[in-house]
Amino acid sequence: EKRIRVALLGCGVVGSAVARMLIESADDLRSRIGAPVELVGIAVRRLAKDRTDLPVPADLFTTDAAELVTRADIVVEVIGGIEPARSLLLSAMKHGASVVTANKALLAEDGPTLYAAADAAGVDLYFEAAVAGAIPILRPMRESLAGDDVRKVLGIVNGTTNFVLDKMDTTGAGFEETVAQAQALGYAEADPTADVEGFDAAAKAALLASLAFHTRVTGADVFREGISDVTAADIAAAKAMDCVVKLLAICERTTGADGIEGVSVRVHPAMIPRTHPLASVRDAYNAVFVEARAAGQLMFYGRGAGGDPTASAVLGDLVAIARHQVAGGRGPGESAYADLPILDVGQS
Ligand code: HSE
Repeated sequence: EKRIRVALLGCGVVGSAVARMLIESADDLRSRIGAPVELVGIAVRRLAKDRTDLPVPADLFTTDAAELVTRADIVVEVIGGIEPARSLLLSAMKHGASVVTANKALLAEDGPTLYAAADAAGVDLYFEAAVAGAIPILRPMRESLAGDDVRKVLGIVNGTTNFVLDKMDTTGAGFEETVAQAQALGYAEADPTADVEGFDAAAKAALLASLAFHTRVTGADVFREGISDVTAADIAAAKAMDCVVKLLAICERTTGADGIEGVSVRVHPAMIPRTHPLASVRDAYNAVFVEARAAGQLMFYGRGAGGDPTASAVLGDLVAIARHQVAGGRGPGESAYADLPILDVGQS
């Protein structure tokens, strides 16, 4: 019987949730996949940290990620950042491993290099966890909606900023004060820049637009404005108009002034009527609203961050890829079929 060797890169909040699910659900995974999944190693920065709460044999931990990726069928990357993640994933694919990653920053900056490496090696590259955590949204774009014509995607794809804007709305407090509160509650990072200035949402918008419109959009193509300039007075003014302020990722098929068909991808605070489905997205939840020509309006809602919700998406990708490997094939790739011009470039 073929066994699927899984290497895990990173053992933080998401990595430890993935390791736990792999071990605790081993029997279920085996029957769903038709082959046993074996965790062959977990690459960490330091071995010294106490990880005895994880049901993982101590000898699986290694600091040699470069070696680990050469002896796996599936490499799961949850370390984040550009390097060493990119080199490790390129090496993994070269050695024949398929990849599951949650790394939105890397995919938004250099996705095409990774897609090309996956095509060259004939392996899968899946990243459902990179956008909106537990919410299944990328595979619906790539597969379920692939026969339709997606015209627009509106997303609340950053939980931290949604939490801050929602609290400002309910308490009437200012931005700085609310961010400090979000930090104290563990919703915002010590350095909240990537979230509050919209970088995280812009990376996710690039991935959403690429898959929705079957084209290539990078983080640099996305117009970006964060929420640090949103004041208590702005929120109160929105309220007076029966609106809420949300940080939206807006991806649209548009026609430029010259009549050229293209795409526009933007992240900025927006006023939306309280009756819009996205207005009901509270706390740190995420949601993605999709409009397609035949399907009409669709709404996806759920948890966008955290260990277990993100691990759910990672494990779903892992099962899909393992099934392909058992069947001796690969899933739908990331090929860009269209090459649509980006309208509104470089305004950030
Ligand atoms: N920092 C992100 C958020 C979570 O607040 O939504 C991971 O993408």
